[in-house]
Amino acid sequence: VPKVIFVERDGNRKTVEAQAGLSLLEVAHSNNVDLEGACGGKPSCSTCHLIVEPSWFPKLKTAAAQEEDVLDLAFGLTNTSRLGCQIILTEDLDGIEVKLPNHKVETSAK
Ligand code: FES
Repeated sequence: VPKVIFVERDGNRKTVEAQAGLSLLEVAHSNNVDLEGACGGKPSCSTCHLIVEPSWFPKLKTAAAQEEDVLDLAFGLTNTSRLGCQIILTEDLDGIEVKLPNHKVETSAK
């Protein structure tokens, strides 16, 4: 069973196990990770924005044009940002690390 590491907004690392085939948004929700996902994965809302740990980023499927458009609206966009609802967990992604962007407290460093 693949593992996913969520780095929460307070820096806490939460390692969870999840079924392949689920989106990281679904994985977050079933493990009490505070990721919003307001549109339920259409994708249209950008509230499921996750920052993928750079070494994992190339292992993901390229984002579709619609995902890119929605990501442009995300707060705190980075080069390794993706939509959690569009990342589907596979066995190959066992150990993937993703960070929740800090929407709530804006820091001048980022
Ligand atoms: Fe809305 Fe992912 S849940 S874009």
